[in-house]
Amino acid sequence: MSSSVERRRPLKRIGILTGGGDAPGLNAVIRAVVKAAASCSCEVIGLEDSFDGLIESNRWRKLTPRDVTGILRIGGTILGTANRGNPFAAPIQTSGGSRDYSERCVEIFHELTLDALVVIGGDGTLGIAYEFHKLGIPLVGVPKTIDNDIVETTNTFGFDTAVSFATDAIDRLHTTAEAHHRVMVVEVMGRNTGWIALYAGVAGGADVILIPEIPYDLAKIAERIRARDALGARFSIVVVAEGAKPVGGSVSLVKAAGGEYVERLGGVAARMTPELETLTGKEGRTVVLGHLQRGGSPTSFDRILATRFGARAVELLMDGEFGTMVAFRPPDIVAVPLEKVVGRTRTVPLDFDVVRTARAMGISLGD
Ligand code: F6P
Repeated sequence: MSSSVERRRPLKRIGILTGGGDAPGLNAVIRAVVKAAASCSCEVIGLEDSFDGLIESNRWRKLTPRDVTGILRIGGTILGTANRGNPFAAPIQTSGGSRDYSERCVEIFHELTLDALVVIGGDGTLGIAYEFHKLGIPLVGVPKTIDNDIVETTNTFGFDTAVSFATDAIDRLHTTAEAHHRVMVVEVMGRNTGWIALYAGVAGGADVILIPEIPYDLAKIAERIRARDALGARFSIVVVAEGAKPVGGSVSLVKAAGGEYVERLGGVAARMTPELETLTGKEGRTVVLGHLQRGGSPTSFDRILATRFGARAVELLMDGEFGTMVAFRPPDIVAVPLEKVVGRTRTVPLDFDVVRTARAMGISLGD
């Protein structure tokens, strides 16, 4: 049997890009890819601002191990990112007729003499990667998002950092809530899934956790708050996911989808706080954690996951396992076909252990 080294294809130059909203750990993946590639004598080209780096021919730079020294602990991405601009969506007019940007990306990929790509992103970016894979571009995807909503992987990097930040915020809100006997309604991100709200809510000892997967009933929430008052705990912490909605109602939007932009969720906490005040007779305050959840240094868990993802992505490329995504199946990092990932969202299962644990702790899920 041939050794894995013999099986490897001689990739000499690979590109790397980061797409979608940033998440803590992106730089850790970039660093891992550059270092792992260097140990296979492979050069890495950093493409700037997601697929823009493949649309304009001067938006790239060589990344050596020296260039990635010290970025493990830094949030954001040294390559820049964008969560708009699908190269397959926008046609450009040329003398040869209407073309989409994807053809241009393929041209630049070859102009840069790249052998393969590492595409780090969430559902949107991985969907674009899959389209390029179908066009014959050798690539591997790396799942990123604080929302933790990518299927086939138990964790995306960035999630643990967002949960840690939100937990710390909830801890801080406890003291002021208790001092003023208030209801604090904390809105967290997560898009249409409740992973951040559920984990941060349980870790922070919230009294009510509202997630998109379980439509809420304000009367039930008010009941829980009044029951706490009756016990002498005259304050309550409500953690609400930005995508949560009332029974029979709709999500709260800052902006509807339009053009190349997806809808922007937000405002659910501000919407429900006065209603809870009326129902409970208590004073309420709203706190929106927003983009703070995406900032800061990645936790050690996210650093390790991101580093393992990056190293494994290079290994998969060298082994010719293209069109795959690295995924965490504890304790292993495995490869799953991108085909199984795109177009799907990993929501919180209603019978999930953490949901049942929350109920066992007496936390109201608003139903
Ligand atoms: O997907 C990550 C995320 O932070 C979501 O939780 C949130 O809904 C969205 O991105 C916000 O996007 P933007 O940075 O465009 O406001």
